[in-house]
Amino acid sequence: MMRFNDKTAYIPGGSSGIGLAIAKKLYSGGADVVIFSRNEDRLVKATNHIKDGVDEGGKIEYRQLDVSSFEDVKKVMEETVTKVGVPDILVNCAGRSYPGYFEDISYEQLDETMKINFYGVWNASAVLFPKMKSKGGHIINVSSMAGFIGVFGFTDYAASKFAVIGFSEALRSEGKKFGLKVSVLCPADTDTPAFEIENKNKPPETKAVSEAANLFTPEEIADALCKKIGSNTFLIIPGFMPKLTYHLKRLAPGLVEFIMDRIIRGVQK
Ligand SMILES: NC(=O)c1ccc[n+]([C@@H]2O[C@H](COP(=O)([O-])OP(=O)(O)OC[C@H]3O[C@@H](n4cnc5c(N)ncnc54)[C@H](OP(=O)(O)O)[C@@H]3O)[C@@H](O)[C@H]2O)c1
Repeated sequence: MMRFNDKTAYIPGGSSGIGLAIAKKLYSGGADVVIFSRNEDRLVKATNHIKDGVDEGGKIEYRQLDVSSFEDVKKVMEETVTKVGVPDILVNCAGRSYPGYFEDISYEQLDETMKINFYGVWNASAVLFPKMKSKGGHIINVSSMAGFIGVFGFTDYAASKFAVIGFSEALRSEGKKFGLKVSVLCPADTDTPAFEIENKNKPPETKAVSEAANLFTPEEIADALCKKIGSNTFLIIPGFMPKLTYHLKRLAPGLVEFIMDRIIRGVQK
């Protein structure tokens, strides 16, 4: 059992899926946890789920906010810091994906995707970085494998998740002087409520690429992440095959493209 006693963790996107599994793992390890998201019913259910079956957890609270609104994030997070304290761990996990052919993706969808997946990460970091730097800590921004491979059907999503990695690498460099670590979590496909919805809308080519890879559980992703909290690892990529894919993409990008093209052509025939 990993222990996080005396740590405070903030998790935007902690009411469902990967964020919820991370919240439960940190809480079970003794951390005080605050989860943030929009829907209050889901926040209440998530809070009960996090406490369920845990005897020696820390404290758990929730707050409603929309990560895409800087004003909202600033107001809610500053109130939370006053009440709960500056976090030692910030996991920016709120996000969404609506796959589709590029020509079917509206400007409004692009705008929303960027505002939630990228601006959301920026907003929480902008409010908390100045506070966290006085005591050190760890900011973990959730990207995706689609943050280092542009996958068919994910044009807006990939743009937002590539942005998360570039932002995090630059912020990591600035955080070093203060002992504040910054990492990125890049999960492969994970069995969450969002993934279920995503599957209903995937173009067949995207589905075929996705089915060629393993599906992870949110608990496996949370486990891999929690082992790296406090470490200097920048890219946290859970699972052997996703890690291998990352290295292949760097060392032999043509090979990764060739494999994906073959899968895609198989569907388009
Ligand atoms: N599942 C996968 O296969 C997969 C793979 C790679 C990366 N990821 C990334 O992992 C993260 C979590 O995904 P998931 O699959 O666990 O999704 P999920 O089950 O739908 O959970 C998403 C969480 O984000 C919150 N959220 C969404 N929009 C928000 C907003 N505007 N403001 C505040 N909170 C918001 C949701 O709550 P409300 O809707 O109530 O606000 C929920 O708590 C995302 O960043 C996703 O891109 C997922």
